[in-house]
Amino acid sequence: MASVESSEHETGPFLGVIFGASGDLAKRKLMPAIFSLARDGLLSRPFAILGVSRREMSDEEFRAKIVADMESLAPGQLTPEMQQELLPHFFYMAGDVTDSAMYDRMKARMEQIDKECGTEGNAFFYLATAPTLFSPVVHSLGKSGLIDERCGWRRVVIEKPFGHDLESAQQLNCDIQSVLDEDQIYRIDHYLGKETVQNIAVLRFANGMFQPFWSNLYIDHVQITVGETLGVEGRGGYYEHAGALRDMVPNHIFQLLSLISMEMPLSFSAHDMRNEQVKVLRAIKPLTGDDVVRNVVRGQYAKGSVDGVDEPGYRDEEHVDPESLTETYVAMRLSIENQRWAGVPFYIRTGKRLAARVTEIVVEFKKPPFTPFRETAVDALEPNQLIIRIQPDEGISLRFVTKVPGTLVKLDEVDMDFHYADYFGRAPATGYDRLLFDCIRGEATLFRRADMVEAGWRAVAGIQEVWAEKDETLTAYPCGSWGPSEADALMARENRQWRVYV
Ligand SMILES: NC(=O)c1ccc[n+]([C@@H]2O[C@H](COP(=O)([O-])OP(=O)(O)OC[C@H]3O[C@@H](n4cnc5c(N)ncnc54)[C@H](OP(=O)(O)O)[C@@H]3O)[C@@H](O)[C@H]2O)c1
Repeated sequence: MASVESSEHETGPFLGVIFGASGDLAKRKLMPAIFSLARDGLLSRPFAILGVSRREMSDEEFRAKIVADMESLAPGQLTPEMQQELLPHFFYMAGDVTDSAMYDRMKARMEQIDKECGTEGNAFFYLATAPTLFSPVVHSLGKSGLIDERCGWRRVVIEKPFGHDLESAQQLNCDIQSVLDEDQIYRIDHYLGKETVQNIAVLRFANGMFQPFWSNLYIDHVQITVGETLGVEGRGGYYEHAGALRDMVPNHIFQLLSLISMEMPLSFSAHDMRNEQVKVLRAIKPLTGDDVVRNVVRGQYAKGSVDGVDEPGYRDEEHVDPESLTETYVAMRLSIENQRWAGVPFYIRTGKRLAARVTEIVVEFKKPPFTPFRETAVDALEPNQLIIRIQPDEGISLRFVTKVPGTLVKLDEVDMDFHYADYFGRAPATGYDRLLFDCIRGEATLFRRADMVEAGWRAVAGIQEVWAEKDETLTAYPCGSWGPSEADALMARENRQWRVYV
């Protein structure tokens, strides 16, 4: 198989400071990502990681915690050889990020580690802490001179959520941009680290066969489904303030939508790619007033069963108000107002405790305007679909109609299937490894720029407004279903249907 590689190197020397090093994100995503880079030979030596959180721990205790966490997540992956080689690069200091004196101590510790490990003054700060701490931490980093780039690069990685609506996102951007240059800010959306997501642009722009069909001339509609079988998993306190719309739509789903619908960029550079993505996000027609009621479905899971296991309703989950009006499901019909997509609906849906865990984009093509099957048993033709599977089982399928072998003309649908695992034999990654690697290399293409974040919030602002006024928009759906029947009706009224998963 011929392969074309872009120029990718090792990271170069760096010190990574992780605020929130004792937390869940650091444990489940960041540490495994660092070891995955090391295993793939992408992590340069010298490098160092400095964990910071309030809990008291020595370097040795921090290293022992990392080993224990890794063993519980992926037994055997952190081999004794890797431990011996890599763990001496991990350091820890206890500190409260709201305490301004902590930053002087941290600066001294960073200088000491820099000398000891030779990280050449380069550093990123990863904010794996509560979103309320983003602005204060960035301001303190600024005040203490820690983001000064005279002696090496300095970058700040910010986790979602980037605000909870347009106004708060603008405020957050304004706050952090008063301290950092935009090119020092890496807003992470781990969906963008996934192979298949990156492959959307390659699929569209490196394959001549798709380009002529990619418009309202041949595409009937696009569906994006992000289904989870899990509920809130003890994070009810967080989810009560988030809900499905905020948690998934302006960020993850709009990333997918922008990649599938953007114009061809001049290059894959951060500047060119993100310019095109933001353009199409701005072209999403904002839904307001009655259009929201007509085009958006909002649901909350009631008790039911998923994979044969009985599950409680959302209102019976821990840390959830028994009369909660938070949605755990949202579906909507969007339009993109530009020449390419005028008249093509984009249907999106996402929810918790659905029938299957699946993230997919379905591009459904128009049926041929004429088919010569008048004298045959064929009475209906199914449309062609290009299905891009983000998870699980990353891959791409092309669904088309073929003749069933036999004397009579009978047709059936078949799938031409490509699975990443079959071709490249790699275990699917979380995306964090790729994104950390890119941040350390200063490659920002897969990170969200301030204007992209704001365009996403702007597109859903009208929905948030209507929901704030109208409680009756919330409908219940049983755990283990595909959401409220209103979501099916949303498509059925235009003679379309969601892809059926069996
Ligand atoms: N977990 C995920 O899978 C996930 C996914 C996407 C986004 N996120 C985002 O990532 C961030 C972290 O989430 P998480 O799930 O890891 O939360 P978490 O488990 O609650 O961890 C929070 C971390 O912050 C530390 N911390 C809290 N207050 C602090 C302070 N004043 N000074 C220093 N450290 C402090 C905590 O340690 P001490 O209590 O010891 O200080 C802990 O290490 C959040 O913004 C979340 O929305 C998480």
